[in-house]
Amino acid sequence: MEHEAARPQVVRGLEKVIAAETNLSFVDGEKGELFYRGYNLHELAGRTSFEEAVHLLWYGDLPTRAQLDAFRTSLVSEMRLPTQVADMLKLAPPNANPMVVLRTAVSALGMFDPDGGSNLPEANDRKARRLLAQTSTIIAALHRIHMKQPILSPDPRTTFAANFFYTFHGRMPDELEHKAVDTVLMLHCDHGLAASTFACRVCASTLAGMHSSLASALATLKGPLHGGANTKAMEMLEEIEGPAQVEEYIDGMLADGKRVMGFGHRVYKTEDPRTRHLRELSSKLCEQAGLSHLHDISEHIERVVHERKGMFPNVDFYSATTQAALGIPKAFYTTVFAASRTAGWIAHIREQYADNRLIRPTSKYTGGFDGKWRPIDQRG
Ligand code: SDX
Repeated sequence: MEHEAARPQVVRGLEKVIAAETNLSFVDGEKGELFYRGYNLHELAGRTSFEEAVHLLWYGDLPTRAQLDAFRTSLVSEMRLPTQVADMLKLAPPNANPMVVLRTAVSALGMFDPDGGSNLPEANDRKARRLLAQTSTIIAALHRIHMKQPILSPDPRTTFAANFFYTFHGRMPDELEHKAVDTVLMLHCDHGLAASTFACRVCASTLAGMHSSLASALATLKGPLHGGANTKAMEMLEEIEGPAQVEEYIDGMLADGKRVMGFGHRVYKTEDPRTRHLRELSSKLCEQAGLSHLHDISEHIERVVHERKGMFPNVDFYSATTQAALGIPKAFYTTVFAASRTAGWIAHIREQYADNRLIRPTSKYTGGFDGKWRPIDQRG
């Protein structure tokens, strides 16, 4: 009998397993740092637009002004949907989870995309811009349909973030709202080999196209242990009347062995670097929107969870109150995460294509080897 220790062991959740090489982003879990293509997130946050961060991820550096203007114009010009997909959104049940609708609509886009059947670099560059723009348009259009309002076309004179807000709400954002949307999108762009990014790369490694890989990523992000946590965090906040009820509520959750949504992380063993920027935005926006009680409860939860479990909020926790203060319904929070992370997923798809090998791990078989067939009437 081979010694147990010598036999390869299953690494549950692939924790710390290096499954790819990337120069797109780096997550330092010990220091609590995140880098996009060599730039520390804190270097970029608050002064780098979403389009600049996308350009950095896709093309390797921050754009010049001329490059930014051209890139922004090309993205905004793609913020439209094939009629058939827009009509499909209108057929979705009103209470359908927006992430389910988004995943379905991105798949449907593949049927109408003129480059859908091609994996050539120039076709992928066109699809990249088209899909990043259309993802945002699907989300905004779905909200307009929910509100029984007409679907809006973007304003080519303004930014991607402002157009996301405008096409979603039907009015332009004020200065703080504009900065907030831009920062939320910039902060969620990429984050190493998160579960949804890994799913995306596995699909891309089979040379399935960009639409299939993004559908895989969207399906994965939806889970409450991943991008779905922001919506769950708001559901928790809505159950807590005020700061006075926080300790009892959290202690009850922990006593029941429940996970506090928006806390903990597979990689970060200290504060998620995105949290400080989202906490600050949440505080300012909640005050402006008359929702300071939500932010106050959040800060109290943060203190209690850290006291009880030594855990820190991850990106999803203050994303919830920030999005609430931006007037985004909680069912849409994960779609906003997806609108941004589509940029990172596309960068990973192209990186996978550039030096591809089919991703196919192995497994530890625990079944038998001596099964004998019997006629069906002799079974059981
Ligand atoms: C994102 O990977 C990425 O980069 C993802 C992301 C990105 O940008 O793409 O950062 C975005 O998905 C952030 C995570 C959002 N998810 C949540 O907020 C859901 C709540 N968090 C947990 O489910 C958990 O923290 C995970 C899933 C995020 C990470 O879990 P691990 O690494 O698998 O850790 P674990 O479940 O094995 O827990 C280890 C211990 C356990 O204690 P014991 O049972 O061993 O005593 O920590 C405890 C857990 O009980 N724990 C929690 C907890 N998270 C872990 N206890 C209470 N509340 C929590 N949230």
